[in-house]
Amino acid sequence: MKPIIETHELTKTYGNFTAVYRLNLHIRKGTVYGFLGPNGAGKSTTMKMFLGLVRPTVGTFTIDGMAYPRDRMEILRRTGSLIEEPSFYGNLTGRENLDLIRRILGLKPSAVDDALELTGLTRFGDRPAKKYSLGMKQRLGLAGALIGRPPLLILDEPTNGLDPVGIHEIRTLIRSLPEKIGCTVLVSSHLLPEIELMADDVGILNRGHLLFEGSMEELRETAAMKGLPSDNLEETFLALVDEDNRKRRPM
Ligand SMILES: Nc1ncnc2c1ncn2[C@@H]1O[C@H](COP(=O)(O)OP(=O)(O)OP(=O)(O)O)[C@@H](O)[C@H]1O
Ligand SMILES: [Mg+2]
Repeated sequence: MKPIIETHELTKTYGNFTAVYRLNLHIRKGTVYGFLGPNGAGKSTTMKMFLGLVRPTVGTFTIDGMAYPRDRMEILRRTGSLIEEPSFYGNLTGRENLDLIRRILGLKPSAVDDALELTGLTRFGDRPAKKYSLGMKQRLGLAGALIGRPPLLILDEPTNGLDPVGIHEIRTLIRSLPEKIGCTVLVSSHLLPEIELMADDVGILNRGHLLFEGSMEELRETAAMKGLPSDNLEETFLALVDEDNRKRRPM
């Protein structure tokens, strides 16, 4: 089956600085794909290119068979996203904020309750968004991203600011989404034990370069073959990044 996201030599440069270098990603339909990399590796830049927020310098990509830039609007219609801090109308309640999105997308009124329920916000639906805690805002952002049940969800560090219970809940939710609403999830995170529990595949980025892409099992095999630690994702990740940093000249 054709991947839901496929990139071809996707590259972003700022002046003479390369943020993302010749990426060839393959995100399989119906999976949770963990997008990993140290601070500044290029994860957000890549995700923003998928959403038309950053223009690629070189390269192309397809999402659900639609090609960028030709089908940009169609791509946006198929993609729910949570990038950095979600923003809302503070004086409106969580429910009212979601209702605005619902109207724009032309969905049934019941979609709001479904989205609140899915993200564990039912109890807080009638509180103004400006009174939400950080974790509640993340959840509301997630609710807004999935309300239209898009085939693809792009989540940039969705557990940012959540407490351990919240992290567990969001992980369980993300894990359940392919089955529950039939979507593919591209998720970036620095919480590697969480990614290990929820991702089918991972892509590891360092300084804009893709160091590895494949299933968790393939990652373990690759690490073992290279003589790197393969017991858990965190150790393998650190070893791969360290190995790559040694190969490259200082930044
Ligand atoms: N508008 C910009 N102009 C210049 N450089 C930029 C710009 N946006 C991003 N960068 C640089 O591109 C690199 C990649 O940034 P990006 O935000 O994609 O990293 P990231 O992997 O998401 O990191 P983090 O884990 O910290 O979120 C960084 O070095 C960043 O400083
Ligand atoms: Mg980022």
